[in-house]
Amino acid sequence: MYRTSNGKSSVVNAMLWDKVLPSGIGHTTNCFLSVEGTEGPDAFLLSGGSDEKKSITTVNQLAHALHQDERLDAGSEVRVFWPKSRCTLLRDDVVLLDSPGIDVTDELDSWIDRFCLDADVFVLVANAESTLMQTEKHFFHKVSERLSRPNIFILNNRWDASASEPDYMEEVRRQHWERCAGFLVDELAVIDRSQVDDRVFFVSAKEVLNARIQRAQGMPEAGGALAEGFQARMFEFQNFERRFEECISQSAVKTKFEQHTIRAKIISESLRLIMDAVHTAAAQQRVECLERRDEQVDRVEFIDKQLGVLTADCKERIRALAEEVERQVSDAMTEEIQRLAVLVDEFSMEFHPAPTVMKVYKNELHKHVEEGLGKKLASRCSNGVAEALHRTQSDLI
Ligand code: GTP
Ligand code: MG
Repeated sequence: MYRTSNGKSSVVNAMLWDKVLPSGIGHTTNCFLSVEGTEGPDAFLLSGGSDEKKSITTVNQLAHALHQDERLDAGSEVRVFWPKSRCTLLRDDVVLLDSPGIDVTDELDSWIDRFCLDADVFVLVANAESTLMQTEKHFFHKVSERLSRPNIFILNNRWDASASEPDYMEEVRRQHWERCAGFLVDELAVIDRSQVDDRVFFVSAKEVLNARIQRAQGMPEAGGALAEGFQARMFEFQNFERRFEECISQSAVKTKFEQHTIRAKIISESLRLIMDAVHTAAAQQRVECLERRDEQVDRVEFIDKQLGVLTADCKERIRALAEEVERQVSDAMTEEIQRLAVLVDEFSMEFHPAPTVMKVYKNELHKHVEEGLGKKLASRCSNGVAEALHRTQSDLI
């Protein structure tokens, strides 16, 4: 990313094995260009947020379409859809985003917000013919303020140019390597020193693209070479691609698991809330039950006491009733005994001293007294007793 003509679009093309994006001298890429796979056989593009598919078959058409569209500026995004059948990288749903190389920084924050926050990997395409510029670094400082430890690769592109100065090549390489290491390890602190060789590469995108196009046409790869040492640079580019893909798949796994972890956290949190609510409700119920139990115990104690009082009362009443009955019976007896004289007086059978008649006489007298006395006594007593019993009964109820 960043800085005009370093070869950003060429790197994307090399990775796609075809001239997909326009590249050239001067300020070529004028907006954000994403390249993603499409299932169909034809490439097309969507721009300016519209749904209208514009078909493109050649890179010239794409360049033309982009330059014709006056609405496009550095903040616009154009989505290029390239057949998955023509590129393995796109089959894994990788989306490559090419940025315009403009040194203006006032829109940087909004670019980062719009295009960079969900990026898995960043590639800084530097120009190996010069050194890393402050503006190039600035972008990644901003990015790493927003994302924690972003995955950043540095491609020192145009490395083919070093072949013309073989005497200095190693020295230049070492200098670039040190600067890149200093940037990634010390300034951004996104990797440690042992990882630098997996993140910093010396390549020639133009050469790789040339070679791959040659190969697609059935010609020897080396025909695309721009300078001495083609094989080594080719090898280094492939090495970069391998690390890039590793990084993408690791990042994808991480994002995937992160989603699950986040979901699991949400689920456990809501489960915790439910359990908390259950626990609180149960504790409250327990308190209520204990209170009710205490109340019941109190009630039982009270009823028990009441029952004791009632039993004592009943016993008292029964005793009083028995006394009453005794008194009434004895009163009745006394009264009847007093009436004995009247009864005997009432008896009017003729008296005769003959012993046989005497026996009959006595029998009759006995019967008379018994009838007179017993009947009265029975009726008196039973009335009195029944009345007392009745009174006591209703009192008890
Ligand atoms: P802008 O989009 O304008 O910012 O440029 P860019 O960074 O996308 O560069 P682009 O890919 O358009 O390349 C600019 C010029 O450099 C083109 O003419 C490429 O052919 C050339 N170029 C790209 N990579 C290399 C390389 O590795 N070696 C050499 N020699 N030329 C290269
Ligand atoms: Mg470009």
